[in-house]
Amino acid sequence: MTNDPVTSLIDAQRFERTIKQKQNLKGLMQADTNQQSLSRRQFLRNSTLAAAAAVVAAPAMLRAQSKTPLNAVIIGVGGRGSGAGRDFTEALKIAGVEGKIVAVADIFPDAAKRAGQTFEVSEDKCFSGFDAYQKALAVPGVNYAILATPPGFRASHFKAAVEAGKNVFMEKPVAVDGPGIQVVYAAADAAKEKNLKVAAGTQRRHQAGYIETIKRLKEGAIGDIVTLRAYWVNGGPIWHRGDQGSTELERQIRNWYHYIWLCGDHICEQHVHNLDVCNWIVGDHPTKCWGMGARQQLEGKSGEIWDNFAVEYEYPNGARMYSYCGQIKREWASVSEGVQGTKGTSNPSGLIQPKGGAAWRYKGKEVGPYVQEHVDLINAIQKDTPLNEGRQVAESTLTAIMGREAAYSGAGVEWDQVLNSKFTYGPDLLYKDCAKMEWGAFRTLQPPMPSMHDIFKDPAVLPLAKA
Ligand SMILES: NC(=O)c1ccc[n+]([C@@H]2O[C@H](COP(=O)([O-])OP(=O)(O)OC[C@H]3O[C@@H](n4cnc5c(N)ncnc54)[C@H](O)[C@@H]3O)[C@@H](O)[C@H]2O)c1
Repeated sequence: MTNDPVTSLIDAQRFERTIKQKQNLKGLMQADTNQQSLSRRQFLRNSTLAAAAAVVAAPAMLRAQSKTPLNAVIIGVGGRGSGAGRDFTEALKIAGVEGKIVAVADIFPDAAKRAGQTFEVSEDKCFSGFDAYQKALAVPGVNYAILATPPGFRASHFKAAVEAGKNVFMEKPVAVDGPGIQVVYAAADAAKEKNLKVAAGTQRRHQAGYIETIKRLKEGAIGDIVTLRAYWVNGGPIWHRGDQGSTELERQIRNWYHYIWLCGDHICEQHVHNLDVCNWIVGDHPTKCWGMGARQQLEGKSGEIWDNFAVEYEYPNGARMYSYCGQIKREWASVSEGVQGTKGTSNPSGLIQPKGGAAWRYKGKEVGPYVQEHVDLINAIQKDTPLNEGRQVAESTLTAIMGREAAYSGAGVEWDQVLNSKFTYGPDLLYKDCAKMEWGAFRTLQPPMPSMHDIFKDPAVLPLAKA
C-alpha cells in the first residue's frame, strides 16, 4: 500500500474485499463461545450457588430461560426491515436468549402481510397505515422495536417507541433536517432517563476490524489526525421505482429515495456510514463545511435529489474531512474511509501504516456487523450495561444534512445554523403526529439549484416543481 490514503484507493478496495471474506463461520463460533461464558457469569451473579452449579452444566436452552425473553416489532418491513428481523433472530441464538417477532407494521398492507408470513406473525398483529407503528408498539409484551422505514419517519417513530418504553434498534439515517434531529436528541435523552437501550444501524461501530483499528488510532498509532476522507461512490445509479400510486403522497412514499423529506438525499441516506466513521475517529463532529454537487444522471426521472456531492468539512481541532458520494455510472467505485496522521496513514476498517514502520492489519474474528449490532443490543438489555447510540447517530446524520445544505445552497454552513434551523422538509404532521397523516396531495420541489436554495431564510427559498 502507498502511504497516501487517497492514491491507495485500489489497494484499499482490495483490502476491504479481503476483510469481508474473513467474516467467516469461525467468527460466529468464537462469538458464540464468548457469549456463553458471559451468560454464565451473568447467571452466577443472580442465582444461588447450587442452582448456578446445575446450570453451568446445563445445555444452552436452560441458560437462555434465565434471561428476559425479547418480543420484537418491526416497523417498516421492506428490504432492511426484513433483513434486520432475520439478523435479530440470528443474534438471539448467538446471545442464547429466547425471543421472537410478535408484530409487524408497514404503511402498505401487502408488505405487512408478506412480512407476517415470513416471520410467522398472526394476521391480527400485522398492521398497516400511517398509524401502524402505534398499533405494533401497543401489542402487549413488546420490549424491542426495530425501526426501518424510510428516514423521514424515523424521528417520530423513535420518539413513539421511547415514549412506549421500548428498547430500540433504529436504522440510519435518523432524520433529514434540523428539527428532526432535535426530536431524535430529545428521544435519545428520554431513553437514557428510562434506561432503555438504543442501537443504530451504523454497523461499522459493531464491526471488530473497525473497532480495533480505531482504538489504535485513538491511542496515537499514526500521531495526530490531520485529514480524513470518506467515500460512498457507487459505480451506478440508485433504484427508481417509478410513479405508482393514486395520490402524490403515495407516489412519493413508494419511491421514497427520490424525495428529500423522506430520504435526506444520497449524502444522508448512505454516505452517513462513512461520515460516522470519521466522526468516531475524531471523537467529535465537524462544525462547518462547504461543498458542491449536481443532479446529472437522474435527468428525466421524477424526484428532487442530486446524484453526487463533494464536501469539505472542518472539525473544531482543525482536522479536515473530504467527503465524496455519488450514484453515477462511472469507471470506479469505492465505499471506504482513509485517514492521514502526522505519523502515518490508515484504512480504519483494519489497516494501519506508520511512516517508515511495518503495517498492522486486523486479523481477528468478526461476526457479521448486521448481526453483531443486535447481539450488542440484546446483551446490553440482558446485562443492563449502557448502550445508547441515539445522539451519536443523530450527530452523524446532522453532519450529512449540513454537507447537503452547503452543497444545495452554494454557501458555507455551520453546525449550529443547521441544528437550530426551523425549516422542515416534510408535511406539517410529520413531527407533530405522523399517525394522523392521510393520503393526499404533497408538494414536489425542483431539484435544488445553488444560489436558489436556502432553508435558513424565512421563508425558506425552495422553488416548487411545476405541476
Ligand atoms: N445499515 C445499512 O447498511 C442499511 C442497508 C439498507 C437500508 N438501510 C436503511 O433502512 C431503511 C429502509 O430501507 P429499505 O432499503 O429497507 O427500504 P424499503 O423501501 O425496501 O423499505 C421501507 C419500508 O418501509 C415502509 N414504510 C414507508 N413509510 C412507512 C411508515 N410511515 N410506516 C411504516 N412503514 C413505512 C415501506 O412501505 C417499505 O416497506 C433506510 O433508512 C435505509 O437507509 C440501512
